[in-house]
Amino acid sequence: MAKFRIAYLPGDGIGPEVLGAARLVLDAVGFDAEYIPGDVGWRFWCEEGDPFPQRTINLLHTVDAALFGAITSKPAAEAEAELSPALRGKGLTYRSPIVRMRQLFDLYVCLRPCKAYPGSPLNYREGIDLVVFRENTEDLYAGVEFRPVPTELAQTLNRLAKPFAPFRDLPPDAYAISCKINTRRGSERIARAAFEFARAHGRKKVTAVHKANVVRATDGLFLEVTRAVAADYPEIAFDHANIDALCMWLLKNPFNYDVLVAPNLYGDIISDLCAQMVGGLGFGCSGNIGDELGVFEPTHGSAPKYTGQHKVNPIASILAGKMMLDWLGEGERAARIERAVARVLAEGKVRTYDMGGTSSTDAMAEAIAAASQ
Ligand code: NAI
Ligand code: MG
Repeated sequence: MAKFRIAYLPGDGIGPEVLGAARLVLDAVGFDAEYIPGDVGWRFWCEEGDPFPQRTINLLHTVDAALFGAITSKPAAEAEAELSPALRGKGLTYRSPIVRMRQLFDLYVCLRPCKAYPGSPLNYREGIDLVVFRENTEDLYAGVEFRPVPTELAQTLNRLAKPFAPFRDLPPDAYAISCKINTRRGSERIARAAFEFARAHGRKKVTAVHKANVVRATDGLFLEVTRAVAADYPEIAFDHANIDALCMWLLKNPFNYDVLVAPNLYGDIISDLCAQMVGGLGFGCSGNIGDELGVFEPTHGSAPKYTGQHKVNPIASILAGKMMLDWLGEGERAARIERAVARVLAEGKVRTYDMGGTSSTDAMAEAIAAASQ
């Protein structure tokens, strides 16, 4: 029997190509796993009215970790039009599988390492090495939204909140409300995850990202809780910054930062900013991590225009595989993958189109697999 059970969720578009590449490299370093394929993505929406069928949820309850490729999603009208005729007009609504996965399995950490490997032509600066901890379950992404706004809610807000006055007399469909909900528990566990990571990896500093001077209630809570957690880690420096200012400073001097921790929306934004500094979508990898399950994925989507061309960069997926190994306690094999990626990038002989080269997805994966030996 294999040592680990891994759910293998390739999804749509280039998902199967990049996940296949990751698999090749995981095999090359001798990762002892049984991969169980799971259905997820657009095809299952069209055929069954559910892009994340119950059988896939059941599968995820039985595995040690999951590798996830990419999925396609489309606006509501197209989603309805592409449903199989028997399912149309039944009020089915498309919901993002990855968002549902985060909620169902309480994958509260979104971990995004952003490291500039020397020699990669897409590095914004050499030497960048940032790690983003994004809270993954609450904040503005909690899904508590109103459009149109129910009269009852408007009346309550008018009674409880003075600043609501300018909106008081608007008709229900003239505005919309999305609730930003942040809990003490949610803030505490993401902050603790960031500091534990910093401690385990000899990182020097954790920076909390917020807008607490304006968004006082929720971001104020986030900052207060993060600061309290920081006190438990006296050997690690702590500072904090407003999201807007941080975006400027990050670009100006990325070396002033180390580990960044943020509520969901700000974390989403800064992780894309950080990913672009180290090569963009072909390099961006992420882990959605809870206490029971970790789901590891490239951050890019299904890139329909490149599907089947075997030309996209698999490094994001290969590094997602490396993150999975770290999380499973297979650190030595993870380090071998990372060294192999670094070596291939430093040599510069194999480059996919995004790096200005013509190598295929498979050629990149094979070069990394060979370098890992
Ligand atoms: P995308 O990330 O799929 O592609 C945007 C562009 O980035 C591509 O056209 C390509 O130029 C480049 N790119 C993406 N991956 C690359 C790689 N590995 N190597 C080199 N270049 C790469 O985003 P887009 O086009 O906005 O969305 C396409 C579909 O993917 C949509 O249906 C969208 O909803 C979905 N999507 C899914 C995500 C996920 O599965 N986590 C994340 C983002 C989008
Ligand atoms: Mg994003």
